[in-house]
Amino acid sequence: METQNLVKFYGKKSVVHDLNLKVPKGGIYGFLGPNGAGKSTTIKMLLGLLRPTSGRIFLFNSELRNNKIEIMSRIGYLPENPILYEQMTVINFIKYLARLHGVRNNLYQRSLEMLDFFGVGRHAFSECRELSAGQRQRVGLAQAFVHDPEFIILDEPTTNLDPLGRLQIFEKLRELVEEEGKTVFVSSHILQEVERLCDQIGIIDQGKLVTSKPLGDIISQTTDHEFVIVVDRPQQLFSQLQILPYFNGIREKEFQIIVNVEDGKTDQFIEELLQLILKDKYHLKSFKPLYMPIEKVFIDALGIRSTRELENVTE
Ligand SMILES: Nc1ncnc2c1ncn2[C@@H]1O[C@H](COP(=O)(O)OP(=O)(O)O)[C@@H](O)[C@H]1O
Ligand SMILES: [Mg+2]
Repeated sequence: METQNLVKFYGKKSVVHDLNLKVPKGGIYGFLGPNGAGKSTTIKMLLGLLRPTSGRIFLFNSELRNNKIEIMSRIGYLPENPILYEQMTVINFIKYLARLHGVRNNLYQRSLEMLDFFGVGRHAFSECRELSAGQRQRVGLAQAFVHDPEFIILDEPTTNLDPLGRLQIFEKLRELVEEEGKTVFVSSHILQEVERLCDQIGIIDQGKLVTSKPLGDIISQTTDHEFVIVVDRPQQLFSQLQILPYFNGIREKEFQIIVNVEDGKTDQFIEELLQLILKDKYHLKSFKPLYMPIEKVFIDALGIRSTRELENVTE
């Protein structure tokens, strides 16, 4: 999938601004951004549900506006708030959508398989209106995959799921990517799940793409300045660290010591920390960066300076 200078205005309001996205075949592409960044608007344009103000969209190497029907038959989509037919049973709903997508054979079997795959097989004979929000999301996923599409676009698929459900769904997506060679484009504002499971990420903020990189680059290129240390005698270590000259900040919180090290001093800090730990026989329980690499990239990309601001854009 590729977009060229994609632009969307709602009236006079610019919501997507010169967006150039490139999603390679295979793998999971995480489309990240804070609420209101323009993710759903972009996705609706990719599906031909919303007309771009300007710019072009290519899928499977052909332009969307010239080949919409052919392209759409190869795409699966989970909308932000999946709409189900409330009076239908779940299985009939999936079968119905499969038929609309042109599936002719083994409709029942295939539908049940997809419901099982996403963990709602046992609700197949309930009516849609009886489902919880998380179950609806899973039915929506079964629906997105039922016609065996090559490219699947998911708009915040894990919003209504509990933390374990989120992990489970991402593992399922990974399985489909690895074993069936599918390409998944998934929007999310939950950084941790994206870091765990995407191969490539794009970050959108106020309608502009601010970063697009393979996750490996992000992990290898981020340098950490902030660390969390957990030891058996935090107060003692804290007073020893406090006098070192190269911290922008150091604080102790609930048995953890959190330090912010000046640029270029990280190696020296780690060296001296290890020496203290060995010399005074601390029991080091954990030493890790305060933020995950993707959180750092997100913070940098959005120009966020304080944790308070960060809390406004993430969960
Ligand atoms: N139909 C609409 N008319 C006017 N503004 C809209 C409409 N839909 C979305 N917006 C605005 O466009 C911006 C981007 O929305 P959206 O694409 O839904 O963001 P995201 O999915 O990243 O949270 C928001 O400021 C939102 O208020
Ligand atoms: Mg959205």
